[in-house]
This record gives sequence, structure tokens and C-alpha cells, in this order.
Amino acid sequence: MADCVGTRQRRSRLGCEWKKVSGFDRRVWRRRRRPHKSERRQGRAKTDGNTLALKAQLARELSRITFERWAKENPQSAIRNPQWGKVIFSNSGFEAVESALKTALLATGKRGVIAFEGGYHGLGYGALNATHREHFRRPFRPQLRAFGHFLPFPIAANVNSRTAPDLRRLTSAATEIFHREKIGAILVEPVQARGGINVPPPEFLPLLRKLCDAHDALLILDEIYTGFGRTGKWFACEHSGVIPDLICLGKALTGGFPLSACVGRADVMDAAWPASTGEAIHTSTFLGHPVGCAMALAQIQEIQRLKLCERSAVLGKFLLGELNRIRNPQSAIRISARGLGLMVGIELNLPNGKPATSIALAAIKKLLHRGYIFLPEGEYANVISFTPPLTISKAQLAKAVAELKKVLTTD
Ligand SMILES: Cc1ncc(COP(=O)(O)O)c(C=O)c1O
Repeated sequence: MADCVGTRQRRSRLGCEWKKVSGFDRRVWRRRRRPHKSERRQGRAKTDGNTLALKAQLARELSRITFERWAKENPQSAIRNPQWGKVIFSNSGFEAVESALKTALLATGKRGVIAFEGGYHGLGYGALNATHREHFRRPFRPQLRAFGHFLPFPIAANVNSRTAPDLRRLTSAATEIFHREKIGAILVEPVQARGGINVPPPEFLPLLRKLCDAHDALLILDEIYTGFGRTGKWFACEHSGVIPDLICLGKALTGGFPLSACVGRADVMDAAWPASTGEAIHTSTFLGHPVGCAMALAQIQEIQRLKLCERSAVLGKFLLGELNRIRNPQSAIRISARGLGLMVGIELNLPNGKPATSIALAAIKKLLHRGYIFLPEGEYANVISFTPPLTISKAQLAKAVAELKKVLTTD
């Protein structure tokens, strides 16, 4: 069973529709000639189908591909009953994160959140409290209510420009925060995206799951970037078999329409959001827009039909192999590639280990002139990221790598 949180609909006798959107009435002006009785019966089904039914169908589908599937695939897992999800829809990714933060506060009664250095969760005032980079936070600090505590994000040991993470140190730092503050949630990207395509070691998410269980906190996974096959699985948490309490989805959910979702384990959502007795305390005018819901349903079908998760895993391995071969004998620039599935970054550093920001930005500009869009990521904008559509062909990928290689080694 899946549910949308807090939407209802009713119809006036005058042929215009009233939509009860979580606590207040919003009239959808659709005046028309009063239809014949038989038309009315049919039309009602159609209109309702086009609005709330699509939203409910998508909520059902999101539960199916997350908590229901995880429970089925991991019968031994610690996932608690009930094994299905409930959904809060929003428009932007940051709003899905804020829905998760609100859910964690309401469900646990604890305000604090542990997040990670380099983490990016969006720029709304709630999400900004958990987004790490000073560039985004500093101008607004006077209005931020600091409830986020940042811990170092461990980066897998094979990234040659950095040292291996010490998960024991991370555990003790987190435990110290749990003892000092009331922490209701850990919020994390399974692979940091805008932080520089940072892949943590496989023990990282299981460790966070353990910490949350030990301290009665919720594990919120921000899979807005990594979700829907980007890393070679439906969701990046599946690489380590960790099941979150709440998962935030956006971006590829629709592949182009502003729709996002916070999917939570049903008991957590019910604890946080009991039935509204008046005006809903969390809503938004356009949440769960039917066009977006239809796009998301089609998108999920296409990912299944074209086996895009598997494709992302295979092409990602090929891409990483190609990028790892790029060397520039004429230059002392240090080039290192990393990634998971079709979420890959190539980091450029100077011989002294400092970020080669201007070289990375110049390369991206040159590539743009050649018809390739790459983005700089990471605190120092020295990571060139590859996050192509999952439908890209191997030949197209190879051509993009060849161009990047030319720009980095000969231009
Ligand atoms: C991991 C992650 N979370 C949240 C967001 C914010 O999403 P939006 O820009 O749709 O608000 C982003 C956007 O890049 C993201 O990468």
C-alpha cells in the first residue's frame, strides 16, 4: 500500500472542480456547460484520473521500487514493518530534502542533523543548513538556524590525491555529537555529486545505518543526483545493501519536469504526519503536478524497458577505464578519475597537490566550443564531471573521452 500524504479532492455541484490540497480549498476553474448525466459519470472518472489518480499511481510506484523492493530483495535485512513507503511530493530537490528534515524532527522530536563536509542538498533555507560549502552559506548565514553538524566525508582510498578515510575516527566524532546534542537524523548523499563525485568506501553507509539505529535517529539518503540508475543500480544505497528511513528523489525522477519526492517508511511517515485536523502544516501549491507524475511514471517504465541501470553500470566501467588511461607526459598535472556507474569525475591537481582549478575550467570551456558540455564540481571546481544521459552510446562516450584527452594533453 502506498499513499500520498495529505491530498483530497471534491467536486462542487456547479461543474467546477474544487481541490482540497492538504488543508485549504483551491478552486480549479474549469467551468463548462453542464454535461449530460452519462457524460458526467465518465468525465468524473477521467478528470479525477488525470489529477489525483496519477499522483496516487506514482506514489504507489515509488513505494514499489524502494521499500517494497528492498524488503523483498533483502529478506534478512533489518527493515522494519511495515515494508512500504509513503510519499511527500514537492517541486525542487531541495524541497524533498526539507520534507525529510521536517519528517525527522516530527518523528523523533530531535532537532539536530548530522551532515557531511562537501555535501550538497540544495539552497532553500532548510536544505542550506545541511549544505556544507561556505560559498553558498556565507551570504545568508545571519538568517540560517544552525541545526546541522558536519563530519568529514570519507573518500575511498584509491583516490590518489587524498588519504584513506578513518572510519573509526568518524564513528567517535559522530558518537560524541550524538551524546552532546539531540540528533534526529543523519543526512547524506551515498556518492557526493557537486562535492566532487566523491565515492565513499563500502563500509560507510552500513556504519551510518548502525549509528542511526543505536541512537534512535533516522537515516536520510539524498539520492536526488544518484537515483534512477545513475550509479549503476536503481539507487546508490543498493551498492552496500543499506535501507534508509527516508530517501529524497528529484532530477531524473521525471527527467525534465520540476517534481521531487521524499519517500519514507510508512511507520515513520505516519508517526510524523498524523491525519490533518485543520490546515496542513506542510504543503505547496503545485506539488505532485499531474504532468510531472505522468512523466515520472513513463520515465520509470523506460528505465526498466531499456535496462538503463545495467547499462549505466557497464558503460560506467568502460568510461572509468578510458579516463584512467589519460596521462600527459608533457605536463606535471596530476589526473585521477573516480566514479560509480555513469557518475564519474576526473580530478586535476598541480604537482604540489593544490587544485588545478584554472586548468579544469579552461578545459571545460574548450570542450564547450567543441560541442561537449562538462561541469566543474567540487569545492575548488577542479573535478570535471561526466554524468551523461543513461542512453548515451559507447561510441559517443568514447568520442567525448577522446576530446577531453586532446584538450588535457595537447592543447
Ligand atoms: C544531491 C542533491 N541534493 C539536492 C539538490 C537540490 O536539488 P534542486 O536543485 O532541484 O533543488 C541537488 C542539486 O544539484 C543535488 O545534487
